[in-house]
Amino acid sequence: MSDHAPNPSTPRTDLRAERMDYSGALLPDDLAGFDPFAFFAAWLEDAFDEQTAGRLAEPAAMVMSSIDTSHEPARATARVVLLKEWDRDGFVFYTHTDSAKGDQIGDNPGVGLLFWWPSLMRQIRIEGVAQPVSRAEVEEYFGQRPRGSQVGAWASHQSRPRDSRAGFEAELHEAEARFADVEQVPCPPQWGGYRVVPDLFEFWQGQPSRLHERVQAVLGEGSWTTTRLDP
Ligand SMILES: Cc1cc2nc3c(=O)[nH]c(=O)nc-3n(C[C@H](O)[C@H](O)[C@H](O)COP(=O)(O)O)c2cc1C
Repeated sequence: MSDHAPNPSTPRTDLRAERMDYSGALLPDDLAGFDPFAFFAAWLEDAFDEQTAGRLAEPAAMVMSSIDTSHEPARATARVVLLKEWDRDGFVFYTHTDSAKGDQIGDNPGVGLLFWWPSLMRQIRIEGVAQPVSRAEVEEYFGQRPRGSQVGAWASHQSRPRDSRAGFEAELHEAEARFADVEQVPCPPQWGGYRVVPDLFEFWQGQPSRLHERVQAVLGEGSWTTTRLDP
């Protein structure tokens, strides 16, 4: 593990010779009746098995990409969030709704989700529309979080500049004092969640010689159309 200081004497700038071969089972050839939710469920289960075996950390971590329309041209921005719940209605994550990502979703709710599970050489792309999770659902989940995270949610003004760690910690101590005698820390009004209602899935399985497997499922007129894509 490197320390935090940059080491300009040996920057690894040329990665062209870095390569490894991937492998994994082929995706189904017969795509009749392919159910992207069932496929997602199976792959997520495999990812959690990998975590149990110590080969993968945070299988529920996903890159959430949104569009920042305040730039000209508008640009995609990406960050990792944790999948907390999912079903056929969508994929839920929790965050500060007044963060940069919250502002972007407010302007343009079309987003992308991406899972990358290196030990399985698998990627899943999901695209869809983010909808705010109901207040009742948000508060129910907030109530399950560890107390430290609950208090931290009051102290953090996510995505806002801060002069120092000490300034943040001072605000954290203020929040701890404020809720010291309160059994259940309330959910801050700006803390919430989004449910990404999917209309596109792509399952990618790494294969030798970059001959990867890709299957895409797209929702149209209430039914999913599944297509095999070239690598
Ligand atoms: C493994 C991992 C999990 C994370 N989970 C969340 C999460 O569930 N919710 C969240 O708001 N931020 C999460 N973050 C932090 C975000 O990546 C990001 O820094 C933060 O949400 C601010 O993003 P924004 O400024 O684009 O709004 C996580 C980061 C990592 C690396």
